[in-house]
Amino acid sequence: MATELDADSSGHGVHHAWRVFELGTRLADAEGADPAVVGGAALTHDLHRVRGGEEYVHPEETLDAVREILEDAGFPEEKIPAVQHCVAVHEDYGFDYGPDSDAAETVEAAVLQDADNLDAIGAVGVARAFTFAGARGNPAWMPERDGDVDRDTRLVDGLVDAEGGTLSHFEDKLLHLCEDVNTEAGRELAEERHAFLAEFVERFRREWFAEA
Ligand code: ADP
Ligand code: NI
Repeated sequence: MATELDADSSGHGVHHAWRVFELGTRLADAEGADPAVVGGAALTHDLHRVRGGEEYVHPEETLDAVREILEDAGFPEEKIPAVQHCVAVHEDYGFDYGPDSDAAETVEAAVLQDADNLDAIGAVGVARAFTFAGARGNPAWMPERDGDVDRDTRLVDGLVDAEGGTLSHFEDKLLHLCEDVNTEAGRELAEERHAFLAEFVERFRREWFAEA
């Protein structure tokens, strides 16, 4: 996976994979999930990001390759399907885990998604966002555009992240990730990271206008 993810410039490199591994296995312990399944999924979940070049490849399309990588690494055969499930659904934002959920997802998939999203908020989340933007030449902020159109309109028009620069990405996505946490243990970490993120955005705006 280190070799595969070396090709990444979208914030899904091997350091991201290791952080998701650490967070995911910790959440797995707290939630009674299988840490081997979560760990295997953490390391392989973003393979789709480096397949297909500019084209978006869905995680489902990488499941055979994920199996191969895990087999080569001597990963327990009987746990591979559970890992593949985590990888397949990790981008489903309509993810609805829990006792009242109709979608019968696994606790391992719920934990992996939380760990992945946690790495997009907090200090590392800030760094990843600006690294992502820098790699594409996107501006930090374009307040003159940000204010023109509200978030719901941007969502409908598919303009999310396209207008307003990197700070719009905070407003459109990152500041909302804490509303969508699947597990109790994940929520605790998310709230703390969210508070930091909210403070960062607040300070950024004030400093931008030299008010602070
Ligand atoms: P995920 O892996 O959760 O699907 P993304 O691919 O959307 O997340 O994003 C990967 C990383 O790149 C995250 O840290 C995210 O904040 C950042 N990112 C994605 N889109 C943008 C953007 N338009 N501007 C700045 N950062 C972005
Ligand atoms: Ni990821």
